[in-house]
Amino acid sequence: MKKIAVFTSGGDAPGMNACIRAVVRGAAYHGVEVYGIVRGYNGMIKGDIIPLNSQSVSNIIQRGGTILKSARSKEFMTSEGRQKAYDQLKEKGIEGLVAIGGNGTFTGAEIFFNEYKIPTVGAPGTIDNDLYGTDYTIGFDTAVNTALDAIDKIRDTADSHDRVFFIEVMGRDSGYIAVQCGIAGGAEALLIPENLTPIDEVVTILNTGFAKQKSSSIVIVAEGDEEGNAQVVAKKIKEKMGNVIDIRVTTLGHIQRGGIPTAYDRILASRLGLGALEGLLRGEKNVMAGVINNQLVYTPFHDTITKKKPVSEDLIRMVEILST
Ligand code: F6P
Repeated sequence: MKKIAVFTSGGDAPGMNACIRAVVRGAAYHGVEVYGIVRGYNGMIKGDIIPLNSQSVSNIIQRGGTILKSARSKEFMTSEGRQKAYDQLKEKGIEGLVAIGGNGTFTGAEIFFNEYKIPTVGAPGTIDNDLYGTDYTIGFDTAVNTALDAIDKIRDTADSHDRVFFIEVMGRDSGYIAVQCGIAGGAEALLIPENLTPIDEVVTILNTGFAKQKSSSIVIVAEGDEEGNAQVVAKKIKEKMGNVIDIRVTTLGHIQRGGIPTAYDRILASRLGLGALEGLLRGEKNVMAGVINNQLVYTPFHDTITKKKPVSEDLIRMVEILST
């Protein structure tokens, strides 16, 4: 394989740049020509494909976002879109791809591989950490630390005013960010999609806290929780508890997707980027590089997108016990 391309797709994640850098520098090391596809699958369809070299990725390891930009492509979900993308890659002589992204990215990559057989290896880049085939995804650690910084600050004002704060963190289908923030932020309660916590149970937790003279509380809500987002959950609690508590709601939102990647994310991203590249050059295809128990492994795209990576029951239990 002499010519490959790298792209980022789906929600951006801190550390994606470190991953791009590892792919580009790894390719240079192995004497392989490398291109960057701008704006994910949309750029592939349009032929927005630029040459990269070692210098193109200087001074980016510490930057959040992605220098290649990102998009969620509707057109790539159509067979006409994928045909256009294939034609562009063929015209430019691209023989293999490194795809950095999450669930949607690898769903597209699998369909594309099955249709056109262009070898593709993925690197897991999403703050959600919801991909089967790796213990951690690129950007998750930074997102948790960003959220935690905000939660610590909210705790100060919650305490001063004897308030209950409902803090919403990202995770459309996943409670990973919420669980880590719940433990590290000392939350009183946790609501995540993987584990139904009925509203009455939250009321009991809060009342138990008040009975023990706890004057303020933090409840972490993952955006995809079954009871609703933080606004909805707070409203339901208010209806049950009335004026006994003074409630405020904070949605952390996209602040969690930006910022300087932590050392952990930079190292993980570098390892996964190089792992994806070298796997591709060795003949891996239709798989995602991941790190499980500190070992680099490759998992078929099909498994990464269809299998669930459960949130540890032990961790959920820990929030319950340590908040009492
Ligand atoms: O997949 C990452 C993620 O940040 C989710 O946690 C969130 O639900 C979603 O992306 C938000 O997507 P968008 O930036 O398109 O609004």
